[in-house]
Amino acid sequence: MKKVGILVGREQSFPAALIERINKRGQGAVQAELVTVGGVRLDWSKSYDLIVDRISHEVPFYRGFLKRAALEGTIVINNPFWWSADDKFFNYALAKKLGVAIPRTVLLPQKDYIKGVTGDSLRNLEFPLDWQGIIDYVGLPAILKPFDGGGWKNVSRVNSLEELWRDYDQTGTLCMTLQEMIDFDHFVRCYCIGQEEVMIMPYDPRKPYLSGEQYINDPNYLTPELAARVTTDVRTLCRALGYDINTVEFAIKDGVPYAIDFMNPAPDANLHSVGEFYHNWVLGAVTDLVFKRLAEPQAAPRYRWDALLNPTPASQFSQAVEAVASAAEQAARTILPKPVRYIPSDIAAGVSELVSDATTAVSQIIDSVIESDTAKAKSSKRKSLPSTTGTSTKRKATTKKTITPPTGETVPEV
Ligand SMILES: Nc1ncnc2c1ncn2[C@@H]1O[C@H](COP(=O)(O)OP(=O)(O)O)[C@@H](O)[C@H]1O
Ligand SMILES: [Mg+2]
Repeated sequence: MKKVGILVGREQSFPAALIERINKRGQGAVQAELVTVGGVRLDWSKSYDLIVDRISHEVPFYRGFLKRAALEGTIVINNPFWWSADDKFFNYALAKKLGVAIPRTVLLPQKDYIKGVTGDSLRNLEFPLDWQGIIDYVGLPAILKPFDGGGWKNVSRVNSLEELWRDYDQTGTLCMTLQEMIDFDHFVRCYCIGQEEVMIMPYDPRKPYLSGEQYINDPNYLTPELAARVTTDVRTLCRALGYDINTVEFAIKDGVPYAIDFMNPAPDANLHSVGEFYHNWVLGAVTDLVFKRLAEPQAAPRYRWDALLNPTPASQFSQAVEAVASAAEQAARTILPKPVRYIPSDIAAGVSELVSDATTAVSQIIDSVIESDTAKAKSSKRKSLPSTTGTSTKRKATTKKTITPPTGETVPEV
């Protein structure tokens, strides 16, 4: 018998349904359950053949356990070694090399440092920073966001250099990026499962989490050409990054899909958030993936970093990044959603508890999102900031505000 473990946070609907599906299909030969783990001994012996990880980004102990389990031959989805190494700025740069459209982005030195790191520790840092040059490159308005994060935490829109300084001042020890804001006319979130199966979800990030209005039902939302390009980009990114479960977000402007967020290895799959259709699709795709991975022959262990980062047999994804399926094949594999997301009345009662949980989580997010509110500017902190070196911004700031409302994304459940 093969054993599958699911490692979870607060989320309920997805893990419970996944366990049920796996057990139903497994018919005793494959058994799924929530992982139970305590103190992990050095001589830990393999107790799971495969683990689906939804939470180790927030619980370092779980990450340590998963790495140990991987060394014993447990298949871990997503790969804990790569997930630990990854960051969004590296991803943007990699994506650009792979021909995916990316908004202009700059990695910023941190505002603050951990205790003990003083000015003497930072002699490699350029000072003052060329803020004007950064703004000239990225343009205004721009998006300030962490190079590693999720759930809209610490994401803000800035319209001027002054707003950038004010928001940057509040980012503490977080490493941030400043990114060109795409004033999108379309927005899609795309599941990608097993680095192959793609589901494009028209999505309105301006609508509140659990409002029932975020995931849009419009089969013609993207033209076939754009859907094919998005599908290709999604596969290219997920294969390059090695994620078996991921979402890729595109802000689409003038027919160009700009990938803005594709480090989401525990994407929201909550029934009440994504709706029945997408929830069922992702459950089916992940269940298929679990059985596929379990059926693959296990290679003899190789105790090297490259083997741990890429345990998939080399032949399987040979030239995976370069390989682009034909447009017809992509179209056949890409499902444009038809059903509308909705919450059936018989589960509405159960939802209320979840909604209150999510409301708490969302209000926490709202608290943590840095508002573009001049009242928050702390001039006392400004003195530690480098002053501008340029004269004026080359691009004009617009006053149009389009993207700031925060949503829950993965937060309410994970
Ligand atoms: N470059 C951008 N242009 C336009 N909107 C953006 C951009 N970057 C982020 N956003 C908006 O902010 C939201 C959160 O940013 P995102 O990069 O997805 O971070 P997170 O990982 O926290 O979800 C996005 O869903 C989108 O609505
Ligand atoms: Mg996002």
